[in-house]
Amino acid sequence: MIVAGDSFPVGPAGGPDLPAPRPADLLAWYDAHRRQLPWRSAPGTVADPYHVWLSEIMLQQTTVVTVGPYFQRFLARWPTVADLAAADLDAVLKEWAGLGYYARARNLHACAQAVVARHGGRFPADESALLDLPGIGAYTAAAIAAIAFDLPATAMDGNVERVLSRIYAVTDPLPGSKPTLKALASALVPAKRPGDYTQALFDLGATLCSPRNPCCVLCPWRDACRGRRDGIADLLPRKAEKAAKPTRRGVAFWLTNARGQVLLRRRPESGLLGGMMEVPSSAWEPGADLAYTRALAWAPAAVDWQRLPGIVRHTFTHFHLELTVVRGHLVDDGAAVDGVWCAPADFHDQALPTVMRKVVTWARSGGKD
Ligand code: ADE
Repeated sequence: MIVAGDSFPVGPAGGPDLPAPRPADLLAWYDAHRRQLPWRSAPGTVADPYHVWLSEIMLQQTTVVTVGPYFQRFLARWPTVADLAAADLDAVLKEWAGLGYYARARNLHACAQAVVARHGGRFPADESALLDLPGIGAYTAAAIAAIAFDLPATAMDGNVERVLSRIYAVTDPLPGSKPTLKALASALVPAKRPGDYTQALFDLGATLCSPRNPCCVLCPWRDACRGRRDGIADLLPRKAEKAAKPTRRGVAFWLTNARGQVLLRRRPESGLLGGMMEVPSSAWEPGADLAYTRALAWAPAAVDWQRLPGIVRHTFTHFHLELTVVRGHLVDDGAAVDGVWCAPADFHDQALPTVMRKVVTWARSGGKD
């Protein structure tokens, strides 16, 4: 068991021992410098759990700036968790389009329904009951417990890991150092105002204790920071080298009809971008270029396909994707094709993920930037 203030077999031996970081110093800094964010409650009040949950799901892998307008639109359209539970999944996916990681949007909807079915439309004020809900992992359960219910939970995200690794000069690389960082963080969570303390850590990591140029002179924990004492704060946290992402390649088929509509198709419910719409495409295969003639076997119609110059690139969590776009025109649109015809003016109404919006832009420009 690690107790805050213990000395650690971490970092180079350096300089005099320092005092333990004091939560009260961080809270005082937060009271003076807290960021105003759309999902944050006024000072001294506890936020609505629905708002906290929605923002935390949206903030995973995305920035505060990106999330703001999505958060406002969701709340305007579905003011309560019961409203969201009753929404059409497709409407939720459409509002989510552009935030990425679409499985999160499906889980968001499933979670809203579970909160209504299991908890009468109120989020449970209990970390393990939260953890049982769809799409809520250890981080999110802790963040909701702390921020929405002021419980002393330990929400570990990248910002918090960075702050803790610096304060205690943890030089073991991530992800192996996660358990150590979590133990250190847990030992620090105060009994008073744990919700504000959690948000203060997020703010410290997002502002002063930034990845490259930490502004140590303004930091409320500067006198307790072992990383600063040792002159290595900006080098932490160390990260184990990641395997390079592989590249997959495929062909996207931009098929128009006599009414100027374009063929779109729904992706299978399970798997990457499950249930989202797409410009029909071939399989996305790893390794060498998908032989063009082989890709044509995936074409939604037997027409004369014209290859556009250039490539549409997109990066997912685990791979880079390179799509060649081909255009074709179906003279007889009475022929049965798999998908729906949609005018480009109505695309905003479709749950098109970012990669497909890139394909649309590329196809409509004829392959020119
Ligand atoms: N990052 C993750 N959750 C956050 C929150 N509630 N406030 C600010 N930044 C965050």
